[in-house]
Amino acid sequence: MDQSALDAIERIAGEQRAPYRSLRVERLTPVIGAEITGVDLARPLSDSQLAEIRRALLENHVLVFRDQQLSVEEHKAFGRLFGTLRALPLEDIDGDDPELVVIRANAQSRYVAGEAWHTDGTADPEPSMGSLLYVKETPAIGCGGDTLFANMHLALEMLSPAMQGFLGGLTAIHDGAMPWKGFETPPGLPKTEHPVVVRHPDTGRKSLFVNPGFTSHIVQLAGGESQALLNMLFDLVAREPILHCRVRWAPNTLVFWDNRCTQHHAVWDYFPHSRYGERVTILGTRPQGS
Ligand code: SIN
Repeated sequence: MDQSALDAIERIAGEQRAPYRSLRVERLTPVIGAEITGVDLARPLSDSQLAEIRRALLENHVLVFRDQQLSVEEHKAFGRLFGTLRALPLEDIDGDDPELVVIRANAQSRYVAGEAWHTDGTADPEPSMGSLLYVKETPAIGCGGDTLFANMHLALEMLSPAMQGFLGGLTAIHDGAMPWKGFETPPGLPKTEHPVVVRHPDTGRKSLFVNPGFTSHIVQLAGGESQALLNMLFDLVAREPILHCRVRWAPNTLVFWDNRCTQHHAVWDYFPHSRYGERVTILGTRPQGS
């Protein structure tokens, strides 16, 4: 592995973390993901629990809460503790609640949501801060339907300083129509230019902000150059397991991830079995470049 990558892993994995007092936080890998226990999300949280959940999200980027019994209203109320929920037009959703995205796969499915590396909502002018997916049904075969997450701070920091500097001067177009290729595209989908390297609004840490789900091209480069560079960046995320954690779901698991510094990929390895979940998405702010 290159020295810049080893240095980045050592820095991230070796960060000093204060102990938690109102939750238990067990890391899934040294660089991304944690299981949180000792909290019931259906009940009002104490100030210290909420503060520690916020801190755990910034430190781990993906939080897994198991054995939660949540109504839709309790799920949404937990999400609202972190911001306003994104509402979608009723004609674009499965169901009748604009704030609730239904994630459903079964024997009739010909595709499933999120079955490729992406970050939720990056085509929006103010992309989502985070998403909370509550899975109620997992495949009857007893396994399958995991979700992979990737740490985009580390993805950037693994690159050479020269490449990081070059990327820092670029912007890219994120196009809401990209996931609809081959299907009838709904009207009014957003398309926005964002910096390729962004600063996390809460930690100030830089991260790589392009994803194959929505990023169509880099504005300052010729078409072929843009495609080659994006392919290199997309491949890094797809082929580098050091960046990843893998969440194995059980019914009543809620996962909260930070869209400002992660990508994710739902694995559809359980056809024709069923999986069902509900997701809320929290509105964020306009990404700032480095
Ligand atoms: C998504 O992309 O939000 C869906 C993730 C999943 O189904 O695991």
